[in-house]
Amino acid sequence: MPQVILSAGPIARSRNGVIGKDGALPWRLKSDLAIFRAVTMGKPVIMGRKTWDSLPKKPLVGRTNIVLSRDGSFEPHGAVVCEDFSEAASIGREQAAEDGRDEVCVIGGASLFAMALGKARRLYLTEVDAEVEGDVTLAPIDESRWREVRRETYPASDVDQYGFTFRVLERA
Ligand SMILES: NC(=O)c1ccc[n+]([C@@H]2O[C@H](COP(=O)([O-])OP(=O)(O)OC[C@H]3O[C@@H](n4cnc5c(N)ncnc54)[C@H](OP(=O)(O)O)[C@@H]3O)[C@@H](O)[C@H]2O)c1
Repeated sequence: MPQVILSAGPIARSRNGVIGKDGALPWRLKSDLAIFRAVTMGKPVIMGRKTWDSLPKKPLVGRTNIVLSRDGSFEPHGAVVCEDFSEAASIGREQAAEDGRDEVCVIGGASLFAMALGKARRLYLTEVDAEVEGDVTLAPIDESRWREVRRETYPASDVDQYGFTFRVLERA
């Protein structure tokens, strides 16, 4: 049975740390959505209730969707609900092991990402090359504890509103 690691992300942030606006993403980045899909496919994903609400199509298909909420009456169709992060991480790890997967991804929003950072072995970060307005931001990340193992740069295009760099970091 493979060892299952917890990863923070994939998550995309602007130069000024913004990840969300009005309950949605503040940009159109088709190539980044394709990366998100490729990285997470087949793996359990853990998200906050507002991120769940923000998904245009739910659940994310081909992945066990685990949603964190303190609302005992919340019963989303197609997702497992947890009331605390440790429980969500345990369920994710068990499911990944059962499915022969080696990773659980914590896909946001801001507070879940912060909780995952302390426990994660890997970090998937898309750096969007823009300053944008928004109402959800990530706290700055201390990168001294991480080393970059992959970096891919994408220019702005017809399908990507801004240029961006997709980065993978692992615990130093
Ligand atoms: N750029 C990106 O890559 C990216 C990724 C993800 C999300 N986003 C954006 O970010 C925004 C949503 O993120 P957000 O940070 O506002 O919210 P969020 O983290 O997705 O959800 C917050 C909710 O999660 C639940 N929660 C959080 N911590 C908890 C804990 N310790 N125990 C139990 N439940 C807990 C609570 O739900 P209840 O209120 O139900 O109790 C809380 O209100 C949207 O705009 C979305 O589009 C962007």
